Amino acid sequence: MTTQMREPEHSGTPPQGGPTVAAMVRANEANWDARTPVHVASDFYGLDGSRTADDWFAPFEWQDLGDLRGRDLLHLQCHLGTETAAFADRGARAVGLDFSAAALTEARRLATASGRDLTFVRSDVHRAPEALGDRRFDVIYTGKGALCYLPDLTAWAEIVASLLRPGGMLYLVEFHPLLDALGPTPAPDNQDLLLRHDYLAGRGPLRSDSPHTYTDGPPLADATASYEWRHGLGEVVTAVSCAGLRVDVLRETEQAPWKRFDTMVPGDNGWWRLPPDEPIVPLLYALRATKG
Ligand SMILES: C[S@@+](CC[C@H](N)C(=O)[O-])C[C@H]1O[C@@H](n2cnc3c(N)ncnc32)[C@H](O)[C@@H]1O
Repeated sequence: MTTQMREPEHSGTPPQGGPTVAAMVRANEANWDARTPVHVASDFYGLDGSRTADDWFAPFEWQDLGDLRGRDLLHLQCHLGTETAAFADRGARAVGLDFSAAALTEARRLATASGRDLTFVRSDVHRAPEALGDRRFDVIYTGKGALCYLPDLTAWAEIVASLLRPGGMLYLVEFHPLLDALGPTPAPDNQDLLLRHDYLAGRGPLRSDSPHTYTDGPPLADATASYEWRHGLGEVVTAVSCAGLRVDVLRETEQAPWKRFDTMVPGDNGWWRLPPDEPIVPLLYALRATKG
């Protein structure tokens, strides 16, 4: 993973009278449709065979997830299905869900080409119960750039809980809000990281308008505006607990699956960490919660 994720170009809270949350979510859908062809052609995703499904996982994830054979697994916000494929490879009956029609067209094409038996459902996460009907799951996996697109974690956690069977687990692996708060010193000869962005959500949704996505490749052709919501760890854990799920693992790790800053160095498993002269801070967290 040699591609650096670009710093988000935020212009702050939309002004009074700005778009509704529903309009922001629609803008995000168009933005993800526009990103899809760039991602499919990118070295970052390595869909030409240069990356494997397993590259996207840290060993601790498989440890926390346990034996997936014969389990019904739902992957929320699955994008191109690169991670969904790894669950099927471990014997799960895997369903990927995403609102981007373009991403799911590619996910289905890739699954067919690789001979994997995967199901993909197009839906906004907020409408997942309607889209999935009476299907219920043993495992719901999500993350690595997913929660930031969801405005209301209370609603999200209730949806997750409703889709799990009793005894089922949510496994969330997400970029740590501290990572999102870091940024390089704004001086060309100094790469030290500083606290440059909000950790908490106080300023409301963050609007970006950039033709660049986080992979290599050409600029987006259109739909360059997108919206993100910050979610601190306290908000995440509270939402999950209040939805009736018991949190049994909360890991914070100094590893990240791709290179966010130029100065990052690769670890043994191909994941990335800050250089040894930087403080050791969490870049990613994993939360496992069980439905009683
Ligand atoms: C960064 S990807 C996360 C998936 C995976 N970790 C990856 O890196 O490929 C974010 C995905 O969330 C999807 N997404 C964003 N908001 C969504 C929503 N409200 N409902 C369903 N999917 C959504 C986007 O279409 C995109 O495919």
